[in-house]
Amino acid sequence: MENPLSQLPIPLLGWYQTHARDLPWRREVTPYRVWVSEIMLQQTRVAAVVGYFTRFLEAFPTVQALAEAPEDQLMKLWQGLGYYSRARNLQKAARQIVDQFGGAFPSTYQDLRSLAGVGEYTAAAIASIAFGQPVPAVDGNLLRVAARVMGDDTDITTTQGKRHFTQALQEVIPTDFPGKFNQAMMDLGAMVCLPNGAPLCEECPAQDFCVARREGTAQTLPIRPAKKPRRVEERAVFLLFHQGKVALRRRPAKGLLAGLWEYPNELAPAQDALAAWGLAGEPAFAGTGTHIFTHVEWRMTALRCALEEDTLPPGWVWAGRGELAETYAIPSAFAPFQTLVEEGLE
Ligand code: ADE
Repeated sequence: MENPLSQLPIPLLGWYQTHARDLPWRREVTPYRVWVSEIMLQQTRVAAVVGYFTRFLEAFPTVQALAEAPEDQLMKLWQGLGYYSRARNLQKAARQIVDQFGGAFPSTYQDLRSLAGVGEYTAAAIASIAFGQPVPAVDGNLLRVAARVMGDDTDITTTQGKRHFTQALQEVIPTDFPGKFNQAMMDLGAMVCLPNGAPLCEECPAQDFCVARREGTAQTLPIRPAKKPRRVEERAVFLLFHQGKVALRRRPAKGLLAGLWEYPNELAPAQDALAAWGLAGEPAFAGTGTHIFTHVEWRMTALRCALEEDTLPPGWVWAGRGELAETYAIPSAFAPFQTLVEEGLE
């Protein structure tokens, strides 16, 4: 049977010529820039990435600079982007490129896959955009567009489902413009073939042959089974002050928000937490906040407390305004309490 996607490349590339988003990593295309942008764009919206990308490239303009970056500077530049293991893997991969590839960016899909943090999607994105290799970069956008154009109700969340759509895209990706094809699919998915709410079919270059449009299934495709609900954690967050500084501790090297700094916090109720830390003071309710991670939701209660002494448990630090701004990377989960913290600083 004819693959309905085979009609897509020519009108899609025409549409892209006039509708492509103007993005910093597209203005000057180098393997390093494409790689950094693709890692930042994992699980993260384009609008959120643009500023981070520009600052990151100013701080670390080359693979070598990234390989040698101090960890705290790296994490500080990533602060607020989330999924922090991406930043650590980026540096690990930069060191691999220096040590194993003599500093030259690997150019084949297989070599790219060997880099830390580079999975099938990212290897395909770099291979196609930076090196012109005809491999589909199959992310949620490509899966959605393909499922709709094909009118195909295969579950996109399973390995077999992904393989099925990857195969169909592999058959049609143009060998002369693979990077443009992939990015055009991403832009179409982001601006026209929308994930939530009604897609803008009247503006779509695939409207004449899109099977989902013809069959009225654009809003029901792609098929993805419901996710299981997130675990909810109630947490008590301690804003501990002494002489105009706030107490921070480092999170464990493994797991959620590994290695970042945080206001000390515990599963609620945490009446005995201060005593357990060997601290003396009277915590008082100061506010609430929520943060949603991939697999867990934190419902936080902030407790403010002026400590009587400046001794902290081993490894904790006192941070003033300058250190909070410049030195310690604190995850966005604690952003609801930023004003409360600033009120307690000198
Ligand atoms: N999302 C992931 N990669 C992208 C890219 N290169 N352009 C636009 N959106 C993207």
